[in-house]
Amino acid sequence: MLANLSEALRERQQEGLYRSRPVLEGPQSPHATIDGRDFLVFCSNDYLGLANHPALIEAAAEGARRYGVGSGASHLISGHFRAHHELEEALAAFVGLPRTLLFSTGYMANMAVVTALAGRGDAIFADRLNHASLNDAA
Ligand SMILES: Cc1ncc(COP(=O)(O)O)c(C=O)c1O
Repeated sequence: MLANLSEALRERQQEGLYRSRPVLEGPQSPHATIDGRDFLVFCSNDYLGLANHPALIEAAAEGARRYGVGSGASHLISGHFRAHHELEEALAAFVGLPRTLLFSTGYMANMAVVTALAGRGDAIFADRLNHASLNDAA
């Protein structure tokens, strides 16, 4: 099994398909140092520049002080905090729907939505260049 993985990795490298994770220094910003080099960033999802906004940093710090830094359990057991619940209720009121459900990543949201909407035997027609989360969910 491990020999197969090593061989698969070697093949990916030879085909130029091996991926690695660039290391970002500091917060999200239009200017960033990545792997020791300075860049002007056009690939971030932080479109509104909120990732490094002082008010949100303070809110996150206050949340950590109040609730700690770990959920301790899944939402269905004992990890659904008052702050999560109130945010879901506020978002539901904002969009005028009975409920909202928050996910901590887009990947998880796409997995949940597709698997909730489609079942065994259903056909899904999708662009093959969709985000991996949609393809994985399908
Ligand atoms: C269209 C789309 N779906 C899903 C994701 C995955 O989001 P996350 O990185 O929060 O899991 C991304 C991330 O860029 C995305 O662009």
